[in-house]
Amino acid sequence: MSIIERDALKFAYWVPNVSGGLVISNIEQRTSWTIDYNRKLAQIAEASGFDYALSQIRFTAGYGAEFQHESVSFSHALLESTSTLKVIAAILPGPWNPALAAKQIATINHLTGGRIAVNVVSGWFKGEFHAIGEHWLDHDERYRRSEEFIRALRGIWTEDSFTFRGDFYRFQDYSLKPKPIDPQPEIFQGGSSRAARDMAARVSDWYFTNGNTPAEIGKQVDDIRRKAAENGHKVRVGVNAFAIVRETEEEAKAVLAEIIEKANPDAVNAFGHEVKNAGKASPEGEGNWAKSSFDDLVQYNDGFRSNLIGTPQQVAERVVALKRAGADLILLGFLHFQEEVEYFGRHVIPLVRELEAAEAAQKVAAE
Ligand SMILES: Cc1cc2nc3c(=O)[nH]c(=O)nc-3n(C[C@H](O)[C@H](O)[C@H](O)COP(=O)(O)O)c2cc1C
Repeated sequence: MSIIERDALKFAYWVPNVSGGLVISNIEQRTSWTIDYNRKLAQIAEASGFDYALSQIRFTAGYGAEFQHESVSFSHALLESTSTLKVIAAILPGPWNPALAAKQIATINHLTGGRIAVNVVSGWFKGEFHAIGEHWLDHDERYRRSEEFIRALRGIWTEDSFTFRGDFYRFQDYSLKPKPIDPQPEIFQGGSSRAARDMAARVSDWYFTNGNTPAEIGKQVDDIRRKAAENGHKVRVGVNAFAIVRETEEEAKAVLAEIIEKANPDAVNAFGHEVKNAGKASPEGEGNWAKSSFDDLVQYNDGFRSNLIGTPQQVAERVVALKRAGADLILLGFLHFQEEVEYFGRHVIPLVRELEAAEAAQKVAAE
């Protein structure tokens, strides 16, 4: 594998397995949460150079997203419709326990040649937990549980006679058969509070964070990588972004302005209220959404902050700036998924590859 292939930035897209699109706005969104739309989207994505698709888990409607397909079964359906794409299934400790999750994912790993991965999410939506009769734990307790969940997943997948004595989960001489075949399922996690970062620095393969500027992403990356190195652990970083790529910068900016102008204020404010249970409720008051403005919240995961809004050249340069700040993967949301995933693959990814090749050549020349 060449240095360029090894260091190549990965691209992922959000699977629209919940209704309403990725922005809380009445602007037209040519997208759909149905399986037919999503199968075709997954095929377009893998043909367009995308490496991963990320599904979402939600049990109830919040502010939009009236209909929600379950993440693991939906991810499996997408894997069955594709041949190279990896699909990351969101899993929420609480509704899932690690014994069932490990078994489910191991089977899908066998059925799909190792293309399934998981995103262990820790929960921010108290109303959803109440609706389904799940205990609502304090912020950092949720992460303590998620960390045990991840340790249990890994132990079950790799050890025979797995024994684990946690505060949330217990295993006694458990041997899962069959275990996953290689490549082993990768473990992603979402969240950016202190507890989320510390968990990433100890156990996760990938740390997903909300959209942000290269400078702010750089601070998170330095923090996590320093702590991970102290723990003898390696973690990679995925950054969210909502991409609006158009032939001219004016067009792209006009689309953003229209999204904000047509935002549903009641829904956005209600979402803003609910996400105070995320990073803001942590002991240090930091984390996802802790500093989000009204405009930021119109995109569920602060995706406008990454500023992938402009021409293909501008967006490719900003993608590479995020890579320089330490991102290993860019997670993308779009207004019109099928059309824009294809456009991104055709017009932006090749420019990113050119910029990456030029940087790699410079590095080699400097050595
Ligand atoms: C990329 C990404 C995907 C996420 N997907 C989900 C999801 O599908 N379901 C869910 O309940 N939470 C999801 N979350 C929310 C996180 O698990 C977490 O609750 C939230 O980011 C707050 O974390 P913090 O308090 O550590 O900052 C996601 C977060 C990120 C960054």
